[in-house]
Amino acid sequence: MQMKECKMPNNTGSVTVLGLESSCDETAAAIVRLHDNGQVEILSDCIFSQVEQHEPFGGVVPEIAARAHADIMDKLVLRALNKANLGLSDLDGVAATSGPGLIGGVLVGMMTAKALAIGADMPFLGINHLEGHALSPRLASPLDFPYLLLLVSGGHTQLLAIEALGKYHRYGSTIDDAVGEAFDKTAKIMGLGFPGGPAVEKIARTGDASRFDLPRPLQKRKGCDFSFAGLKSAVQRHWQNVCDPCEQAKADLAASFQRAASETLSRQTAKALVRFATEFTKTNLVVAGGVAANQTIRDDLQNLAKDHGFGFIAPPLRFCTDNGAMIALAGAEHLAIGRSSPLDLAARPRWPLDESAALNNPASGSGKKGPKS
Ligand code: KG4
Ligand code: ZN
Repeated sequence: MQMKECKMPNNTGSVTVLGLESSCDETAAAIVRLHDNGQVEILSDCIFSQVEQHEPFGGVVPEIAARAHADIMDKLVLRALNKANLGLSDLDGVAATSGPGLIGGVLVGMMTAKALAIGADMPFLGINHLEGHALSPRLASPLDFPYLLLLVSGGHTQLLAIEALGKYHRYGSTIDDAVGEAFDKTAKIMGLGFPGGPAVEKIARTGDASRFDLPRPLQKRKGCDFSFAGLKSAVQRHWQNVCDPCEQAKADLAASFQRAASETLSRQTAKALVRFATEFTKTNLVVAGGVAANQTIRDDLQNLAKDHGFGFIAPPLRFCTDNGAMIALAGAEHLAIGRSSPLDLAARPRWPLDESAALNNPASGSGKKGPKS
């Protein structure tokens, strides 16, 4: 990450950082105080979801997202300050997601953060959105490094060894679609609405997961990469062949899909747990990202961790999906060791957390523009 050394912000034994998130369809602003002893206080956590604006289109429309972020970001910042009962001068720094994500939205958060940093003469921190997710479990309870992270969201599906702050080693990544994308597409195919994940999970509760035979891709290949494009297409094919597309058929297909997705995640994660145990020691399996809200996936991962002698940590649901507190915490962790970002830091729509793994073994989104994540 492009960071520079900066003066330690104060000598009060804590750093207080405002964090802004706007890389997809949630606008968020939160203030987090990180104490010397590692204790984390969330002083405010404000979020505005754009779901209603994107719902008619069945997916996130980048132009609508960027405009909506620009409309609301300054009001959310004020709300976060008011809720925390703080003024700008009480902050030690301001952090914003600087990628990867939809560029229009990312720019809104970064420009707001940079303007606040200049106006209030405080450090600016450009944070990798994936690092925010990677550190998010620490918002809820203390968690020592290292741990194995399974990041499952609408844009990413990755296994990462989180060794220390700024030291992230990618074990595997999706070579095509993210698992959240597959949930969203499955919902769209059956007309279940947007966002798809919660809708698929809800209807799957009354479904028969053994009715449809769906693939579990890449299981036999070495390594921990994922693939969900084939699963998505199989759902489409089965749905086209269903003679009676009634509510029960939808429930059965949703349940079969959810089972296939969860088993695919678990089997590749099992390989990563074995590798992690040889490189470090058996510590914790942590799941983060929006798809971590799914109870079937949580239950399967919890059993898997237990079988391999690892602890299992899933952050509370509000920290699983995109939020400002995870960006504020990542900013505070860097600031606490005297690091901040230059004010000319550019937004990066593609920004792998483990740059060398992404270059040596590019998974999804490679090509002329470079690896996505
Ligand atoms: O982390 P997130 O809020 O945004 C990013 O993509 O960064 O994740 C959103 C994704 C969407 O694909 C959504 O359908 C999925 O998380 N999701 C779920 C559930 N809740 C949200 N997927 C499965 N089951 C859920 N309960
Ligand atoms: Zn996210």
